[in-house]
Amino acid sequence: MRPFVFINAAMSADGKISTHLRKQVRISGDRDFQRVDRLRCEADAIMIGIGTILSDDPSLTVKSKELQKERLDTGRGENPVRVVVDGLAKTPPDADILRKGAGRRIIFVSGSAEVKRVDALCTAGAEVVVAGKPGESRVDLAAALRHLHDTGIRRLMVEGGATLNWSLIDLKLVDEIYVYIGSLILGGSTAPTLVDGTGFSNHDEALSLDLVSVEQMDGGFVVKWRVLQ
Ligand SMILES: NC(=O)c1ccc[n+]([C@@H]2O[C@H](COP(=O)([O-])OP(=O)(O)OC[C@H]3O[C@@H](n4cnc5c(N)ncnc54)[C@H](OP(=O)(O)O)[C@@H]3O)[C@@H](O)[C@H]2O)c1
Repeated sequence: MRPFVFINAAMSADGKISTHLRKQVRISGDRDFQRVDRLRCEADAIMIGIGTILSDDPSLTVKSKELQKERLDTGRGENPVRVVVDGLAKTPPDADILRKGAGRRIIFVSGSAEVKRVDALCTAGAEVVVAGKPGESRVDLAAALRHLHDTGIRRLMVEGGATLNWSLIDLKLVDEIYVYIGSLILGGSTAPTLVDGTGFSNHDEALSLDLVSVEQMDGGFVVKWRVLQ
């Protein structure tokens, strides 16, 4: 068993989720930030990859006081459980995700992570969980999702980045995809796209999507797709 999984991202009109410098860039606007805050509020957990931690250092907290209160009033913590996929335990112990906001943080590592790094993350308040196949430095995402389900997580929001999105899609672990598409071009052959990784080889392998809705917002638009399994 695994949670319901959805990816939420913002990308430029040419499909880039940041610039070639791989640093966070403003793609959407205030209404979209509120939409994302609402999605966070309604999620049991939010997952990101170590690449995004190292690039953007996000805290992934719920920002609006009203939404924090809504969570507390319904017996949930102020923030969803924050989850990092980090095979080698490279998350800096002073990362914002560990310093800011209340609530559980889970860092999934592989068996190749150095004990010293794991200990430092535990000291910083993270629950470090080994989810990896022997000899591999990547996290076993199916096992990680099973672990989250076992601890009561039913609705998981994935906030990137490009490599994690690919792995989850490749393993058929995604149910829905929401993308804000901004009216700008970022360009750059090395800039991350919505989904990087190896990629599929042909149309038959490609992930098929069912278009659920398109909504105009902040000068761009939000597209929702359901994954056809
Ligand atoms: N616009 C948006 O909505 C948005 C959202 C998020 C991020 N971003 C951008 O995306 C970029 C970061 O994306 P990224 O692709 O470099 O990194 P990422 O997807 O955040 O993290 C990928 C890393 O996670 C680790 N990992 C461990 N197990 C894995 C597994 N099974 N599958 C996949 N990854 C696994 C790997 O590092 P190890 O090998 O070290 O374990 C891998 O390199 C940044 O430029 C950021 O600004 C944009």
